[in-house]
Amino acid sequence: MGYIGSRSIALQQRAMKVAPLGVNSNFRYWGEGATLYMDKAKGAYLWDVDGKRYIDYRLAFGPIILGHSFDEVDRRVIEEIQRGTLAAMTYELEVALMEKIVEMCPAVEMARLACSGTEATMHAIRVARAYTGRELILKFEGNYHGFHDHTLWSTYAPAESYGSRRSPIPVPASSGIPKSMGEKIITLPFNDFEGFERMMKAYGEQIAAVITEPCQGNCGALDPQPGFLELIRKLATEYGAVFILDEVKSGFRFANGGAQEYYNIMPDMATYAKAMGNGYPVAAFGGRQEIMSIIGHGVAQGGTYTNNKAGVAAGYTTLCILQQQPVIETINQRGRRLMEGLNDIFEDNSIPAVFSGHPAMFSFAVGIEKPTCQREWTESERAYYLRLVEAALERGVMPDLDSREPWFLCYSHSDADIDETLNVFADVVKMVKK
Ligand SMILES: Cc1ncc(COP(=O)(O)O)c(C=O)c1O
Repeated sequence: MGYIGSRSIALQQRAMKVAPLGVNSNFRYWGEGATLYMDKAKGAYLWDVDGKRYIDYRLAFGPIILGHSFDEVDRRVIEEIQRGTLAAMTYELEVALMEKIVEMCPAVEMARLACSGTEATMHAIRVARAYTGRELILKFEGNYHGFHDHTLWSTYAPAESYGSRRSPIPVPASSGIPKSMGEKIITLPFNDFEGFERMMKAYGEQIAAVITEPCQGNCGALDPQPGFLELIRKLATEYGAVFILDEVKSGFRFANGGAQEYYNIMPDMATYAKAMGNGYPVAAFGGRQEIMSIIGHGVAQGGTYTNNKAGVAAGYTTLCILQQQPVIETINQRGRRLMEGLNDIFEDNSIPAVFSGHPAMFSFAVGIEKPTCQREWTESERAYYLRLVEAALERGVMPDLDSREPWFLCYSHSDADIDETLNVFADVVKMVKK
């Protein structure tokens, strides 16, 4: 790998002796002798252990909305943790953070905090099951809702294993997930209007929740087709199922009010993490008061670290900055320039590429018509995408190697960073033969 340095290789060898694959998340492993190890990050940049600087478009898989080590957030975190990091007691800043979430997120009347997106979706699913007295969950292929067993089905298995579109087979994404959990899940291609109506007709009265990412942030940022989220809203209401919008990637990124504001859609519940804390461990789930208020009345939810001071202080400060400064506007403007610039480069080189997603979180797929679901996206030229990104990494531009993972932008990306990225891509596209 041209991008890898000797210190990354040495650190990986050391790490592999003590951790499986030498990482603490499978998603951070790019292969033996091919995985970068990090030294530090600041603003829009990340440095690897060999001292090489990258313009970072991975942004920790989305959390960094303002920039790495954003001074105002870090300052507030330091102030707060010096007054105690954790207590089994609720404090004022925690209440203020929940008030901010309720103020900013149109569908959230009440919220509870958590530490990660996985926890947020897991709790939301329990609450939806408890509220409806039902057990089935309907999710869409290619969507990822965290590592728990409830929805880690048909996320990134080869799409050929998903069976017919008419009767999709839920495929667990890991050994160790009990087969019996598969009896509680229905999977469908994203944007399948007819399939969704058919499934709701057949099982709607047994479905506790329909959960979806608004735009497939874990599969090429595939857009919802006009009317699809609205159809989910309509049929969930008709059949009494809870509509959970998983905003872990889109929340506080697509708009201050997340994807529900951006697409003007009102779910019953929504889940948040990532951009909410600019990189600190904080998450939330919330929704209609009628649903949320069953928690504590026979419905269990909690966690030792759900109110950890660092996460809460970072969350509160990040949300205040989002309200006070033109964060989303700036990101949108730079993201749009980057998408348009990349598109021009592909057009100039006669490379058929289609873009999807939002300027703050977008992807492109090469060699196919605009895909509507993971089954179609799978046909894109992913090996070519990988070679492009590997060449870009060598030149100091860092999107994820996996084309499912979108490009993320933050408030610290400057116009000069966008120019540099476009210059690199103009060269890379010429260099890498399709
Ligand atoms: C849409 C979505 N939901 C849930 C999760 C899980 O979040 P976490 O990694 O914080 O557990 C992710 C993580 O990428 C995600 O993208």
